[in-house]
Amino acid sequence: MAYNLLKGKKGIIFGALNSNSIAWKVAEKAHEEGAEIVLTNTALAIRMGELDELAQKIGAHMIPADATSVADLENLFSKTMEIFGGQIDFVLHSIGMSPNVRKKIPYDDINYDFFSKTLDISALSFHKMIQVAKKMDAIKEWGSIVALSYIAAQRTLYEYNDMADAKAVLESIARSFGYIYGREKHVRINTISQSPTPTTAGQGVKGFSALMDFTERMAPLGNASADECADYCITLFSDLTRKVTMQNLYHDGGFSSMGMSSRAMIQYNKSLECKECKENPLNHPDE
Ligand SMILES: NC(=O)c1ccc[n+]([C@@H]2O[C@H](COP(=O)([O-])OP(=O)(O)OC[C@H]3O[C@@H](n4cnc5c(N)ncnc54)[C@H](O)[C@@H]3O)[C@@H](O)[C@H]2O)c1
Repeated sequence: MAYNLLKGKKGIIFGALNSNSIAWKVAEKAHEEGAEIVLTNTALAIRMGELDELAQKIGAHMIPADATSVADLENLFSKTMEIFGGQIDFVLHSIGMSPNVRKKIPYDDINYDFFSKTLDISALSFHKMIQVAKKMDAIKEWGSIVALSYIAAQRTLYEYNDMADAKAVLESIARSFGYIYGREKHVRINTISQSPTPTTAGQGVKGFSALMDFTERMAPLGNASADECADYCITLFSDLTRKVTMQNLYHDGGFSSMGMSSRAMIQYNKSLECKECKENPLNHPDE
């Protein structure tokens, strides 16, 4: 059900790759809520992905941009303002990639060139897009910028690797730039810390299915889906949240406030029946 929350608003959505992508769902919902959209992703992702299909469905323009390239971002914001005939109301940063995660390199044997790439793609790109937008005065007063984060920024999670560091930087950029952009132009900047979600990026993390099962058992409301995340993004782009800024907002069914739940404890107790765990409790083969 649509509420016309974004009627007349115009936004750029980074990071829709296929129909599982969180950004894909956000684009669909933003369109349903009355927004006009420009979709962007790397040239390779546009060639390899299914973005054409989404663009046609929601009548969006598509402009390629590598979010680590300031020149690409300048081109993106300038072309978008031409298409929209003026400033932009909202921007979604839905971008993440770690070569160390992809190549399954452990955190204590990290490749530093890859680590720099992780930080550049997953975190510094957020700073770059905001800085470019601000210099070009591309965002309307009371506009809204949102990026997607994960609780590994605060708590250590098995196998999340250098993406944890990238998310910590991402959330910090939202606060540091949120202050400046808020003070000068009333533009708000927030991050949403989303539950594990079965997307291309999510499923690249080792042990992802077990992690989703664990968080589902721990969260009193269960994991939040990509569709539900899109709903939350829409509220942050809308005029109903004009005084929310510099926040990292958990969208995880309550997981972030839990220590142990009865559903997770039942499963944990079952694992204590495991013969291998009993024989060698501190060195289980799955560790
Ligand atoms: N899936 C999860 O479990 C989960 C949980 C919390 C947060 N997030 C975050 O949500 C965001 C979206 O990821 P997703 O899960 O929808 O996966 P996804 O794989 O569908 O999206 C990741 C996107 O990043 C884009 N990208 C990579 N390098 C880029 C670059 N240099 N320039 C521009 N775009 C680039 C990819 O092309 C892709 O579209 C990411 O920030 C991710 O970390 C995901």
